[in-house]
Amino acid sequence: QDSAENQGQPREQWSGTFGFILASIGSAVGLGSIWRFPFVTGENGGGAFVLIYLACILLMGIPVLLSEIVLGRSTQRNPVGAFRRKAPDTPWFLAGFIGITATVLILAFYSTVGGWTLAYTWDALSGEFGSITVGQAEARFGSFIGEPETPLLWQALFMALTMAICYFGLEKGIERTNKFLMPMLGVLLFVLVLRSVTLPGAMEGVHFLLYPDWSDVSLTTIFEALGMAFFSLSVGAGAMITYGSFLSKKESVPSAIGNVALFSTLVSLAAGLAIFPAVFSLGYEPSTGPPLVFITLPAVFAHMPAGALFAALFFLLLTVAALTSAISLLEVPLRYAGDEFGWPRGKGTLLIGGFIFLLGIPATLSFNLLSDVKGLAGLPIFDSMDFLASNVLLPLSGLVIVLFAGWKWGVSRLLSEAKGTSDNGMPFKFMWGFILRWIAPALMAIVFIFQIVSS
Ligand code: PHE
Repeated sequence: QDSAENQGQPREQWSGTFGFILASIGSAVGLGSIWRFPFVTGENGGGAFVLIYLACILLMGIPVLLSEIVLGRSTQRNPVGAFRRKAPDTPWFLAGFIGITATVLILAFYSTVGGWTLAYTWDALSGEFGSITVGQAEARFGSFIGEPETPLLWQALFMALTMAICYFGLEKGIERTNKFLMPMLGVLLFVLVLRSVTLPGAMEGVHFLLYPDWSDVSLTTIFEALGMAFFSLSVGAGAMITYGSFLSKKESVPSAIGNVALFSTLVSLAAGLAIFPAVFSLGYEPSTGPPLVFITLPAVFAHMPAGALFAALFFLLLTVAALTSAISLLEVPLRYAGDEFGWPRGKGTLLIGGFIFLLGIPATLSFNLLSDVKGLAGLPIFDSMDFLASNVLLPLSGLVIVLFAGWKWGVSRLLSEAKGTSDNGMPFKFMWGFILRWIAPALMAIVFIFQIVSS
């Protein structure tokens, strides 16, 4: 089992809390906040969905995040190995497998969209967006994804970049890229929000995003919000167990949790504020699905001075944000294969990354050649993969993880492990027991049961 240690290789560690915090923010902030959050919000009616999403982050996402990081740090293991260490010869480790399956599926369709961001960076650099209208942007995106070759090539490039960064290891790959580019993305997003909310008729979009209309809320809304919360925090996939396993016992878990939750939520909301005012101002539809951001943003940039330059920079930084999430996704199965089977990084990266690329091909083809093929719940292949991973597997594994933390491992043990040498441990100690044992699992179970009963 403990092959990496048996071979005498010391486990890699982050260079201090800062390295860990940057990397975990890098994992959390990505296409989830900037691409997925706006289109899912658009499909689910806006304001009420946003409030439920925030509640899901607080009451379910953060408890899972805490459990994952501490479990990873305490065991220094991959998601499956972590459970095996804490509870040998019990089936708890299945939660780890569910998480690993989720990361593989997510990275497969994530690389489709990562390919889109790369292609859009290129197009923006070559000045293709100029003074594009939303109608033209829609036609353009349609013809881009409508044929298989070009999107597949960009997807391959995105996967190759992800694999290259993973191959060259933690320190060099992950930390350096995150340090400078994330804050730049934040600034650019802020500029976009300013442009978007000052377009004529923009307030309708602000209203859509922030004003809850409860009449549209259904069980599906809640189910979608839970999946979105987990996706944007990178929890339920074992990614935070894996990243936590590189964290030394000295460092502060509470500040990592606070930062991850804060930034991923802020970026989601900012992305919403950049998209919806523009959607309404430009007379577009909020419920367009996955292409939403790729159709509206070029049209917003066309309304800005030096828009082409901003567009290129924005899509470039979005690609980097997507890459820092993609490497955390690939790191999960890699770490599993490394810990449990002693696979060296190179072999793991090639075989697992290659497999995920193959799995991602049907996701890309579902916008062209395979557009008539239906998967789960009558959805196209791309949407089925997203649905299965984000709305089913992440919350399911999250549920098992909090049950494990609250009932099997024990809250007091978890809280004492959460304490680093340089901090006082988790704040609000009195309430974690209640949240981890009752609130979070009960809410997740209720959402699940209702979803199953109603479908
Ligand atoms: N949180 C990432 C994003 O928002 C996606 C992700 C999900 C990463 C699960 C790791 C694990 O883009």
